[in-house]
Amino acid sequence: MSDKTAIIGVVGLGYVGIPLSISFSRAGYKVVGFDIDSSKTESISRGKTYIKHIPDAEIENAVSLGMEATTDFNRAKEADALIICVPTPLDDHREPDLGYVLSTMEMLVPHLRAGQVVSLESTTYPGTTDEKLKPMIEAAGFEVGVDIYLVYSPEREDPGNPNFTTSTIPKVCGGDTESCREVGKYLYSNVIDQVVSVSSTRVAEMSKLLENIHRAVNIGLVNEMKIVADKMGVDIYEVIDAAATKPFGFVPYYPGPGLGGHCIPIDPFYLTWKAREYGVNTRFIELAGEVNSSMPEWVVGKVAEGLNSHKKSINGSRILMLGIAYKKNIDDMRESPSVEIMKQLQDRGALIEYSDPYVPVFPKMRRYSFDLSSAELTAKNIASFDCVVIGTNHDSFDYEMILDNSALIVDTRGVYRDEHENVIRA
Ligand SMILES: NC(=O)c1ccc[n+]([C@@H]2O[C@H](COP(=O)([O-])OP(=O)(O)OC[C@H]3O[C@@H](n4cnc5c(N)ncnc54)[C@H](O)[C@@H]3O)[C@@H](O)[C@H]2O)c1
Repeated sequence: MSDKTAIIGVVGLGYVGIPLSISFSRAGYKVVGFDIDSSKTESISRGKTYIKHIPDAEIENAVSLGMEATTDFNRAKEADALIICVPTPLDDHREPDLGYVLSTMEMLVPHLRAGQVVSLESTTYPGTTDEKLKPMIEAAGFEVGVDIYLVYSPEREDPGNPNFTTSTIPKVCGGDTESCREVGKYLYSNVIDQVVSVSSTRVAEMSKLLENIHRAVNIGLVNEMKIVADKMGVDIYEVIDAAATKPFGFVPYYPGPGLGGHCIPIDPFYLTWKAREYGVNTRFIELAGEVNSSMPEWVVGKVAEGLNSHKKSINGSRILMLGIAYKKNIDDMRESPSVEIMKQLQDRGALIEYSDPYVPVFPKMRRYSFDLSSAELTAKNIASFDCVVIGTNHDSFDYEMILDNSALIVDTRGVYRDEHENVIRA
């Protein structure tokens, strides 16, 4: 491995798989990326990105260093390590849907050979690696820890955060056996500055969930505090900034329109589901979920309030949603609360449009359908709306110009810290 002759197979070329492939490529390894979506493998082979915050140049560079992308799983046997980064969503009953992980493993098993490392990176409940993946490997005649080294190592990508790269974020890694643990540590230490070895795959699986539950619960707490502060006429941002001067024991979290992305709204419920098997209720998780998922309704209430003060109703008003990605400076729309707000406003009769430089055309989504493309942000256009809702605080928006030209702004992100006649916080 250290002579860089090992071939790294990355399975699932999405938000997690692509940066990981680039890291191994940069470190001098031959990378073969696998995906079932040929449009993605073709795009990568051409050196083209399909994720806005990952520039073409990085993919072009990886391809020039020998990275390949394919839908041909026969090639999995070429790889010395197979790293699985496929989605782990919730199903319609908000229960874990391991379908992608299991079908990926089914596709890989016929091509496994002795000496390979199999690493699962997808976020999941404790027990997935040893209860689900291990038996599939053993059923193919391999002994885990002797023939195949099985590890779980959760991804900690923070898309759009310029302060960290895949290599500089410490990485937790747990093995099914001691030898798996050693091999896993070795695999990742070639590209990650600090690998944190833990005693089992279950510890690694649960540590990832704790990180995300910590965020979900604290965001829920601050969203509840926001409502209390609003009713009391207190500025929640001033409160948070003041509390954050405490040099120990406090971490600032900021309120918003609700949770978004593929992780924080979803992952905690993987633990809720698994905990039920042990007769435990995860009350903090449920409560945070309840508070956070009620935020779009709170925002819609604020829009109604603002329009009302202009003697208008939601019904028939032209409303512009500014920012529909789930967080700033990225193009990821998964679980974006902006879209839920758009839907609730439209259901109440609003004439809804949106503007987002990262999302030129409203994409196909499972639960939402809007036949819209991003509205131009000119002073004249902004002035033509009855209300502008700031859903995502992209840095590229001209907030000064928006403030000067909007009849009414509902600000869910605390963009405007000073009081303005035409701004309502939500
Ligand atoms: N996006 C993040 O910031 C982030 C951060 C930490 C952890 N995670 C976790 O990492 C995992 C992957 O997330 P993501 O955001 O990269 O997802 P993604 O949807 O961006 O990418 C997943 C890729 O897997 C492909 N795929 C699906 N089934 C496949 C199969 N059978 N074989 C090969 N490829 C297959 C899809 O076509 C897609 O390209 C999830 O478990 C997620 O919770 C994501």
